[in-house]
Amino acid sequence: MYRIGFLGTGQIAAPMVRFLAGTGHDITVSDRNADIAATLESGHGVMVAQNQQVIDRSEVVFLCLRPHLAAEVLQDLRFRPGQHIISVMAGVSLAKLRTLCAPAEDITITIPLGFLEQGGCPLPAYPSTDVLDRLFEPENTVFQVPDERALNMHFAICAMVSGLLDLMATGAEWLGDETGEHAEAEFYTTQLFSGFLAAMTRKPGALARKRDSLATKGSISLQMTEGLRDGGAHEVLLRTLDAIRDRLNG
Ligand SMILES: NC(=O)c1ccc[n+]([C@@H]2O[C@H](COP(=O)([O-])OP(=O)(O)OC[C@H]3O[C@@H](n4cnc5c(N)ncnc54)[C@H](OP(=O)(O)O)[C@@H]3O)[C@@H](O)[C@H]2O)c1
Repeated sequence: MYRIGFLGTGQIAAPMVRFLAGTGHDITVSDRNADIAATLESGHGVMVAQNQQVIDRSEVVFLCLRPHLAAEVLQDLRFRPGQHIISVMAGVSLAKLRTLCAPAEDITITIPLGFLEQGGCPLPAYPSTDVLDRLFEPENTVFQVPDERALNMHFAICAMVSGLLDLMATGAEWLGDETGEHAEAEFYTTQLFSGFLAAMTRKPGALARKRDSLATKGSISLQMTEGLRDGGAHEVLLRTLDAIRDRLNG
């Protein structure tokens, strides 16, 4: 079991803390966000402390700050040799983290999503560290990517999740407007996609094969895929992924 600290107790820290507290680790979270920290303290037995105390109490420190605040917050804090640092912050480079967290040297960046609490979350990581495997496997799958650039590309695909949720919300709203049943429309849309994806195989090429098995000649599914493609949806997606790539690679 590890003594684990979290700097930044927000949307992504909370499910990670709940998961790790549930597997018996000794956890300290920073006192911001105060409401989330208090809920974790009362419901999951974690300790709440100021940033420096979080670091001093911990063998493993998760950095869950908003990227634009990272330098400002971390530059005043003291890490120690031998500490394991795990950053989940998009766009804060390994080189920058090495400077900000020195003399701690074991630094890894990974990309969690909140559903890791339920298991089944893929966790790309660079560089690899056994600590991440020990903390999140076997419920979740940790895998090393070849380099930091590849990790940033995984961050870009992760950003697609909110883009696709936004599209799904638009579809659900359209269905609700048509039927007059907005709650049912959202339920149907959510269950449809989550059930469909959960049932898919993980074999290479599965996404395209599934698409083609639905979008057969003359079908409304083909009308949808062609309508989106002809309307430029794929070009917009690729352009946006490129823009995120360029932003993350500085
Ligand atoms: N959300 C996700 O699903 C997700 C997934 C993967 C990676 N990430 C990464 O995780 C990071 C955090 O994202 P988030 O969505 O969790 O954001 P968030 O909910 O805003 O959490 C950031 C936390 O940092 C706290 N904070 C601000 N100033 C601080 C300080 N000086 N000392 C200590 N804590 C401070 C904030 O507290 P206050 O509320 O009091 O300001 C807040 O609790 C980002 O870098 C993001 O790229 C997020």
